[in-house]
Amino acid sequence: MNLLEKIKKQQARVVVVGAGYVGLPLVVEFAKAAFRTTAYDRDPAKIKSLNAGKSYIEDIRSEEIAEHVREGFLSGSTDEAVIDEADCVILCVPTPLKKSKDPDVSFIEAAVETVVRHQHPGMLVVLESTTYPGTTRDILVTQLTQQGKYGIGKDIFVAFSPERVDPGNAKFGTRNTPKVLGGATPACMEVAQALYDQVVDTVVPVSSPDAAEMVKLLENTFRAVNIGLVNEFALICERLGLNVWEIIGAASTKPFGYMPFYPGPGLGGHCIPIDPLYLSWKMRGLKMPARFIELADMVNTAMPEHVVQITANALNNHKKAMRGSHILVAGVAYKRDISDVRESPAIDVIAGLKHRGAEVSYLDPWVPAFKEHGLSMEGVNPDTSFASYDAIVIITDHSGLDYARMTREAPIIVDTRNATKRYAADSKAAIVTL
Ligand SMILES: NC(=O)c1ccc[n+]([C@@H]2O[C@H](COP(=O)([O-])OP(=O)(O)OC[C@H]3O[C@@H](n4cnc5c(N)ncnc54)[C@H](O)[C@@H]3O)[C@@H](O)[C@H]2O)c1
Repeated sequence: MNLLEKIKKQQARVVVVGAGYVGLPLVVEFAKAAFRTTAYDRDPAKIKSLNAGKSYIEDIRSEEIAEHVREGFLSGSTDEAVIDEADCVILCVPTPLKKSKDPDVSFIEAAVETVVRHQHPGMLVVLESTTYPGTTRDILVTQLTQQGKYGIGKDIFVAFSPERVDPGNAKFGTRNTPKVLGGATPACMEVAQALYDQVVDTVVPVSSPDAAEMVKLLENTFRAVNIGLVNEFALICERLGLNVWEIIGAASTKPFGYMPFYPGPGLGGHCIPIDPLYLSWKMRGLKMPARFIELADMVNTAMPEHVVQITANALNNHKKAMRGSHILVAGVAYKRDISDVRESPAIDVIAGLKHRGAEVSYLDPWVPAFKEHGLSMEGVNPDTSFASYDAIVIITDHSGLDYARMTREAPIIVDTRNATKRYAADSKAAIVTL
């Protein structure tokens, strides 16, 4: 049976390399579609948890994993030899930035080297990690064909398909989010499309892996730039004595030609603050600056410091100094109702407050403790007395935070998300919004 037939008959064995926020939901979707699927990850804790039927990602239920493990469709392994048996290998490894803010594709390179060690004819390899246009060709196609043994589109099939998962989104998951796909050759496209057709409702074919890589960068740059624009509007409104939330609310009543974005304490997560910089790096190499990306990055990365500044101003208005003040940061996850603190602006805000001598605690129903960028903290109990702090700084508008009690008890609230809007009229606290 050739690869295409194996895929169409669900006889193909799937290995997902990297079982994190992106890889795990995909593993579950393949198992659900009756493919024998293995999650290969370097992290033994994740694999142990998976094989024990326990989820470590909010959007995936443990019972779902346990059922697929029991039925033999899903397993986890830290042994790269599982790729020996794989027909389809999907790479979902991280693509962070280096300290210099240049792309770090070392995880992709390492994952591809692992695949090369176990490569055999009749294999599909798909990259899902977000990256700059040209990565699939430059790294996957080059490394997988370097020995001269494998012809692309004949013995080895390569494609790129960007992951679009939106953690915490109850409406759109892996299956009902259309999936963009670009194959390295028409044959690669045919094989890859046959695979994804079985696990997602809609596959959106594009002409090449480069085009598929660029689609993801347009989507995330669109968000980063619009958030940058609205953050700048927040600063302008503050100077003009206007409330940016009121302006956005009224502008949003326009039924066409406007889409609301909201200001905040800065970008967070693994995608929006990082991905556009992959493109600006690529364009710098071609001597063509990606000006919107660089400007949005400047505006967005300055927001945590602005939050620290307006907190200092609010304390000052109450005849208090930042030094020695007790400040509670409400919410440290990078967005509402999830536990992910990666690149969260809360980290920079906390560091900035501490740097100016504040005593900082945090409360987050989703994050009992965290270690990130040299900061290691444990959250306070949810029934902490809000009156015992000099100020509360709301960074993440989790639905589980008690804003009503906050506005009754706290003396000052710096609300970067407009989370206290409903209680503002009766608030005893002085509320400062962005
Ligand atoms: N998290 C999101 O919301 C999201 C959404 C869309 C796209 N993406 C993109 O998807 C990619 C993966 O992101 P993520 O959030 O799932 O990352 P993650 O850190 O949650 O998971 C990555 C996993 O890969 C494993 N890993 C790293 N190198 C490995 C190797 N060589 N062999 C085996 N396992 C390895 C790690 O142990 C980790 O478990 C990134 O490119 C990211 O930009 C993420």
